[in-house]
Parts: sequence; C-alpha cells; structure tokens
Amino acid sequence: MTFDIIVRGGTLPDGKVADIGIRGETITAIEPRLDAEAGRVIEAAGNLVSPPFVDPHFHMDATLSYGIPRINASGTLLEGIALWGELKQVMTLEEVRDRALAYCDWAVSMGLLAVRSHVDTCDDRLLGVEALLEVKKTVAPYIDLQLVAFPQDGFYRSPSARANTLRALDMGVDVVGGIPHFERTMADGTRSVTELCEIAAQRGLAVDMHCDETDDPLSRHIEQLAYETQRLGLQGRVAGSHCTSMHSMDNYYVSKLLPLIAEADVSIIPNPLINIMLQGRHDTFPKRRGLTRVKEMQALDIRVGWGQDCVLDPWYSLGTADMLDVAFMGLHVAQMSSPADMRRCFDMVTNVNAAIMGLAHLGLEIGKRASLVVLDAGNAIEAVRLRPDRLCVISRGKVVAEREKRDTKLSIDGRPATINRRHRLPV
Ligand code: FE2
Repeated sequence: MTFDIIVRGGTLPDGKVADIGIRGETITAIEPRLDAEAGRVIEAAGNLVSPPFVDPHFHMDATLSYGIPRINASGTLLEGIALWGELKQVMTLEEVRDRALAYCDWAVSMGLLAVRSHVDTCDDRLLGVEALLEVKKTVAPYIDLQLVAFPQDGFYRSPSARANTLRALDMGVDVVGGIPHFERTMADGTRSVTELCEIAAQRGLAVDMHCDETDDPLSRHIEQLAYETQRLGLQGRVAGSHCTSMHSMDNYYVSKLLPLIAEADVSIIPNPLINIMLQGRHDTFPKRRGLTRVKEMQALDIRVGWGQDCVLDPWYSLGTADMLDVAFMGLHVAQMSSPADMRRCFDMVTNVNAAIMGLAHLGLEIGKRASLVVLDAGNAIEAVRLRPDRLCVISRGKVVAEREKRDTKLSIDGRPATINRRHRLPV
C-alpha cells in the first residue's frame, strides 16, 4: 500500500496517537502504525494533529483596512459602522480584493482553511460582493470561503439594501444575512427576520444573521429567528451571530427562549474578541461582559461555535487570523476553565464551526478531505494555552504551509537550556 503523504505519530485531539495516510485529496487511513511507502512523510511525534481551523463569522470586505480613512475614536460598534460607511465611499474593488487575498494567506499560515464571511450589500455598486466572489474563486483550491449577503445599514433602513441583497444572492452569494437590531424599530427588525428567512427558504439557502448585537435586554430577534426557522422548516441551516443581548436578558425569559432555539436547531456564533471589546461601552460599573450564554446553551445541546468577526478593521484594531486567539478569549469570558470545557473550546474552533457551516467533508476521519494542521503543542488544551506555531498545514492533500519548530535558547547563570513552554497537565 502506498500513500502520497503519511503524517507520522501525531497526537489527535482525542488523545490517541496515530499515523494518517493521505491519497490524493482524501484521508484513506488512520492507524496506530502504517507500514507503507509514501511520497512524503511528515514526522509529527509529540505534536498535536488536528482538523483545520474554521471561522464561521468574519468580514473579509473590511479586513486589513484599519486606519483607512481614520481610526474609530470611541471604539464603539456604532462608530465602526459609521467609519465603514466612510471607507465604502473611497475603496476600490482592487483594494478590497487584495486585502482579502492577503488575509487568506495569513489564514492558510494559521491552518484556518474555511471561512464564512459576511459581505456588505448596501453599496449600490456591490463592489465588495464582486471582489469577494472573485476571491472565493481564487482561493477555492485551498480555502472553503462561504459568503453571506449582509445588509450592514439595515435591510429596510437603507433604501436600496433590499434590492441589492437580492442582487447579491443572484450573483452567487451563498447565505442570507441580516441585522434586525439595526432596523429603525423593533417591529421592522422582526419583519426583516421573517422576510429574510422566507427568501432563504424560497432559494434553498442557509441563514446567518447578526442577531441582537446590543446590550439592550429587550432586543429579542433571536426569538423570531428561532420561530421562523421552525415555521419554514429551516432547521439545521440557520445561525444567529453575536446574540450579545442574551447576556443582559431576564433569566425567566431566557429559560423559555433557549429550548425554542434548541427545538429549531439554530446554531449560535458568539465572537468573543469583538464582544468583549465592543459591548458594555455605555456602562459605568459594573461593566457587562456582553458575551452570550455559551455554557447554558451547550447544556441544552445547542450548537455554539466561536467566530473571529474582525481583523484590523473599523471595529477591531488587532487580530491575527488565529482561531486559537478566539478560543482563548472565549474560554476566559465564558469561564470555560474545566479540562472538558477547555477541550471543548478547541473543538468549537474546528469541528463545531465546520458543522455550523455545513462542511461535512472536514474532520480527521477516513474518507474525509485531507485537510489538517500539525501544531507545536502536545494536546488540544495546550494548543489553546500556547496558541503555538503551525508546523505544517495540509489542504486537500497538499502541503500549503510549513515552518521550523522554534525553541528558545536560554543562557542564564551559565545554565544553558532550551525551553518551549510546554507543560503536561496532571489531568
Ligand atoms: Fe459581524
């Protein structure tokens, strides 16, 4: 038996040690020891081998634009939206495309091989849509890029958003988005959820809506999203992103809401880096964290992933395309500190996010696509703690990124040593 690639002796996220055999674009063997020839052997002993990282919530039309035309002085979501409106007036298709492609290179280097990006549909030129459709085609050999038609300035509130959103879907954008909390009234927000879900049902598309990204405890559009999902038979195809208002909702109301979300099989995508940065800005003290109720939803088997949302754009001045940064922040803000919860945070940025995006071809299993990452960490918890180098990234059976292992040489008191900050936990 021969393979194109064998990834030798790595530790899988479940703790098992195995060789992974790859033929063409497919994982064809996972065994404790493969005695076989291979075109290339990648030694992974002592290192974590994981499925690729997946980001189910991003804005690729805005990424790497930080400081253009100016910086968000207040740091709020609303100034970010206003600033993005200024940028939209001056940006060109080529600039959007080149920034997005530069970001995709970062993503590959971090083992991030699937991204769901919202793309603003309120610009009459639909320049971002055109640019990202081109990017999607360019990166298709190595990144699964899904696009969401996102009426940033409001499906009803922005005069041409409705027509432009439909045009974007006609052009090939994959998923229906929305922003009900930004419409003029609660009633308009509710109506937008209904119409957008009906559009998705008619076209056989998935839905991913920015839903209740506010500190207002009475912003309850997620309830309508769950209702429309079950009414229209969209179960398993709908996600609510952010859902930060749930942080501040009345506890009795939440005890009714969560079973409705579970019943409708609606996925939830909090974005912890951005939520902890933008929410609670109107508070004095105590200052709310603004992250949705992650553990409480997981306890009801609601699918909750972690999204990144922003890298160097009008809303967020940092970011590196590292989904382990996202998991690390999410772990802290949601207080997911038990070993099981820490492992779960790693699972959220790999397998759970892939499930939210409907990417059944990803995962470390025989017959799945040969896309994987070798990390300079011993296990999934250590990976979240260290956010380590990606030593090797394989996409569709091809090595697309590699780097040397980098240990630090110390010279202290004549005591030379090499350290890498790994530390095996007693559990
Ligand atoms: Fe977003």
